[in-house]
Amino acid sequence: MRKIDIYDTTLRDGEQSPGVNLNSVEKLEIAKQLERLRVDIIEAGFPAASPGDLDAVKQIASTIKNSTVTGLARSVRSDIDAAWEALRVAECPRLHVFIATSPIHMTYKLKQTPEQVVATAVDTIQYARKFFPVVQWSAEDAFRSDRAFLAHIVEQAIHAGATIINIPDTVGYATPAEYGALFKFLKENVPNIDGVKLSAHCHNDLGMATANTLAAIENGADQVEGTINGIGERAGNVALEEIAVALYTRQDFYKNIKTDLKLNEIKRTSQLVSTLTGMHIQANKAVVGKNAFAHESGIHQDGVLKEPTTYEIITPELIGETSNNLVMGKHSGRHAFQDRAKIMGFELDQEALNNAFKEFKKLADRKKEITNEDLWTILTNEQLKESDTSVFELEGVGVYYESSKDPSATVIVKNPDGEMVEMTTSGAGSVEAIFNALENVIGEEVHVLDYRVTSIGKGRDALAESIVNLSYRGEELTGRDSAQDVLESSAKAYLNAVNRSLLSTHIKELMKTV
Ligand code: KIV
Ligand code: ZN
Repeated sequence: MRKIDIYDTTLRDGEQSPGVNLNSVEKLEIAKQLERLRVDIIEAGFPAASPGDLDAVKQIASTIKNSTVTGLARSVRSDIDAAWEALRVAECPRLHVFIATSPIHMTYKLKQTPEQVVATAVDTIQYARKFFPVVQWSAEDAFRSDRAFLAHIVEQAIHAGATIINIPDTVGYATPAEYGALFKFLKENVPNIDGVKLSAHCHNDLGMATANTLAAIENGADQVEGTINGIGERAGNVALEEIAVALYTRQDFYKNIKTDLKLNEIKRTSQLVSTLTGMHIQANKAVVGKNAFAHESGIHQDGVLKEPTTYEIITPELIGETSNNLVMGKHSGRHAFQDRAKIMGFELDQEALNNAFKEFKKLADRKKEITNEDLWTILTNEQLKESDTSVFELEGVGVYYESSKDPSATVIVKNPDGEMVEMTTSGAGSVEAIFNALENVIGEEVHVLDYRVTSIGKGRDALAESIVNLSYRGEELTGRDSAQDVLESSAKAYLNAVNRSLLSTHIKELMKTV
């Protein structure tokens, strides 16, 4: 069997999606889930970007043991130093260093000649190899690079000590035949290519990232880079779950090719990434979309009832979506709850479990049937709370609404100094009135850029999840939270976004004193 390494860059390229700002607790949660999914390599961040990024990569590198942890660096020594600082604690420290190789990037962005770019690449790889046993080198915008130059610089990079060579289609411009041919060309024209692994890295600007990545595998790529749910810059990166499920489902075509991904962890990973990044998954998204297994037309339903394979090429069970969704109710006890949390893969200490159980009981009093999705939301919220230092806390919210008048909202909030502040303000709608009241409590300008509410699970008593995207103190932030009431979840999500900014300012200040 030929094994394809799965390189996950959700926490680096994925985190570069507009409006996504994960804190270090959330990054660690995602990394732990990626380890459960058995990805081979986790790109945990870009340590030179900020002290917060460095710290998050370090935490992940010291926690994750069963996947290799890596970090990104530009071709400058200070970036490599920052990456070493973050990754030296890892089981097997690995660096990802890159430089652009296309004429457009070299001329306009780097303002370097091709010879200078080769010299910089060689120098930084050699420097990195003094610290890192494994160095991956990327030719940014490789697909739009001159082929002969690309072959030359790849040869030099290998000579300098890189053992994994990544060939990105940075702007998502390639077609499958062309991208596959590029791998074939490099295999045939780089004399020292045999000892190294070739890696594919595709962006989805023209919707061809999955096809391009598969074409690279067909032509010799032994590592594929991508993100969960395909999140990332612009139209995103290739969705890793699509690659793994395509290779598995079409074993008749991709003969003897496999990944080590634990496919039944896909659904949970996808849900976690969507929740924590606030990036909704489109309903018809391949593999993980809400409708990926729904059969709507009568003809299809009839066919599936007679023989599932008539219209079903993958099953929900394959990706870990359980059909037996009703799990607990009002009469379920603490033990049943603990067992269920364990089965779902949550590792909470006793205090966190007790808090989660209280939340479960509260919900069970108001909601007839508690589903896996509800439990997952309660347990995830509790898990993230463990080291959450929120600075504004919602104590209460009330709204007065009459169709002929502007609604008014009253909020009670505990502020960072521990004082209770109550504020009543009106607005054009109930949610606006709440947001206005919260803005008055905060006492600074907050601009709401986007706001969404979705239900978690089905039924009229489903939990509501709110995502609020706002700008505050010059930063764009995404907050999320859930509650049974739409208005309460909206208020909590708004404060969650503001708290993220206060928390990162606090971390920056702490860093200055170290
Ligand atoms: O898309 C790209 O070229 C990248 C590199 C940094 C590898 O993300
Ligand atoms: Zn990229």
